[in-house]
Amino acid sequence: MNPTDQLDPTIFVIFGGGGDLTWRKLIPALFDLSQDRSLPDKFAIIAVDRVKLSDDQLRKHLQDGVNQFSRFGNAKAAAWNQFAPHIQYQQGDFKKLSTYAALRSECGRLEKTWGTKAHRIYYMATPPSMFGEIPKYLGKAGLARDREWARIVIEKPIGYDLDSARALNAILAASFEESQIFRIDHYLGKETVQNILAFRFANPLFEPIWNRRYVDYVTITVAEAVGVEHRGGYYDHAGALRDMVQNHLMQLLCLVAMEPMVSFDADEIRNKKVDVLHAVRPIAANAVHLCAVRGQYGPSGAGRNKVPGYRQEDGVAPESATETFVALKLFLDNWRWQDVPFYLRTGKRLPRQVSEISIQFRAVPHQSFPPEASLGWQPSRLVVSIQPDEGIVLGFQAKYPGPKMQLRPVDMRFNYRESFDAPSPDAYETLLWDVMKCDATLFMRADQVEAAWQLLMPVLQGWQTTPPSDFPNYPAGTWGPEDAQHLLAQGHIWPLPTELVLPDSRKPVQAKRR
Ligand code: BG6
Repeated sequence: MNPTDQLDPTIFVIFGGGGDLTWRKLIPALFDLSQDRSLPDKFAIIAVDRVKLSDDQLRKHLQDGVNQFSRFGNAKAAAWNQFAPHIQYQQGDFKKLSTYAALRSECGRLEKTWGTKAHRIYYMATPPSMFGEIPKYLGKAGLARDREWARIVIEKPIGYDLDSARALNAILAASFEESQIFRIDHYLGKETVQNILAFRFANPLFEPIWNRRYVDYVTITVAEAVGVEHRGGYYDHAGALRDMVQNHLMQLLCLVAMEPMVSFDADEIRNKKVDVLHAVRPIAANAVHLCAVRGQYGPSGAGRNKVPGYRQEDGVAPESATETFVALKLFLDNWRWQDVPFYLRTGKRLPRQVSEISIQFRAVPHQSFPPEASLGWQPSRLVVSIQPDEGIVLGFQAKYPGPKMQLRPVDMRFNYRESFDAPSPDAYETLLWDVMKCDATLFMRADQVEAAWQLLMPVLQGWQTTPPSDFPNYPAGTWGPEDAQHLLAQGHIWPLPTELVLPDSRKPVQAKRR
């Protein structure tokens, strides 16, 4: 962050201030911002929750989270002692108007002490059941009224399906204007995700070939090695389509496929992204099986390497039909992408954590090299590596050294860590800073959330009416069910993760006798 961007006085209210998101993500991100001197001088965090806690008890609990999750490691005593007094606790029931009245008077008191008006940011870090309640009370208490100075932040799940998303958006819209609502998708805060726009639109090189004429197909993979961890209770009601595809994968699709924006205005960028979702060819109810594959991991390994199956995880029903893997084949009906397949997949308990986008270019129109020159020949491919490695790899053909003309695939690599002497901030740092600056570029607008739900509804409905008969259908530690292969057109593949950092990349080339 840039400390020279001065922020106005801000009161950051966290509903669910005693909860896991606050402990694991929000406070470590705010602390890290404070270390970069990217918080306003006049700044307060009011953590609101139901349990009884003193300011000191809460601060101690939050310090533990900072020690575990801050980018700076264990917080130095001086740094923490400077930051901690900005945090205060307010006990209150989220469904009682008196909680909001107390909040209003505390905000007023802070403003009076500071001698200035402050921005008020209301962050809903509560269970989703409260998402529809808190905005109503904020509205009733008059805390949403100031359009320029009050903002609300909400994180997924934004609805459970299209109807519930619409209903939630309507509740938010009853008290807040769209410009005051910040819907977080933490993927948009990742450096490598933001870099997709920079790469595509700050360089004239690739845009001319970024279309159906040169691109054969695109794959987007967001693979996790972990299982559902301690979130079985939530996940079993959500599943991978709701948990990952409706939000994170759709955002990646939008960034890869969108048209160039005219300006860096938040709504201009969001309009271009929504256009992508509107262009997705609707999935017919009777064609779900041709476009979507679901999977659920089963147990694997033995002895100390034994990994439980999804149905054996805590909080998961023993006969659960919830999917932990999704693969989709989508087409965009527009001039740029007509008939280019976009394959998306995500899953838990896959062989490794990797998120990457692969743009597979078409073969050359005419092969002029002799057949023996091009053994092992592969069309060019561009990989945007989002995590854990951060960078971009371009694979192309080069002449193998020697008297004969022989072609071999080689890679050009851009690696964030090697190129920039700057750490990547956590996505939440970027996003919270943007909320404070009131920059909505990296946040989802209501219409975008609804468009994403709309295009997935046939899959959700189809899967609900036809329960899976083969779950679990992939062992933990594999790349998902066999059926995911069958989604692919002939000659297309799910690429293996690209290695961005080669262990021997700096080895000098050994001279060899011919
Ligand atoms: C969350 C999902 O939104 O994203 C989790 O609810 C998932 O199930 C997580 O594990 C993945 O995020 P990241 O940043 O680790 O890729």
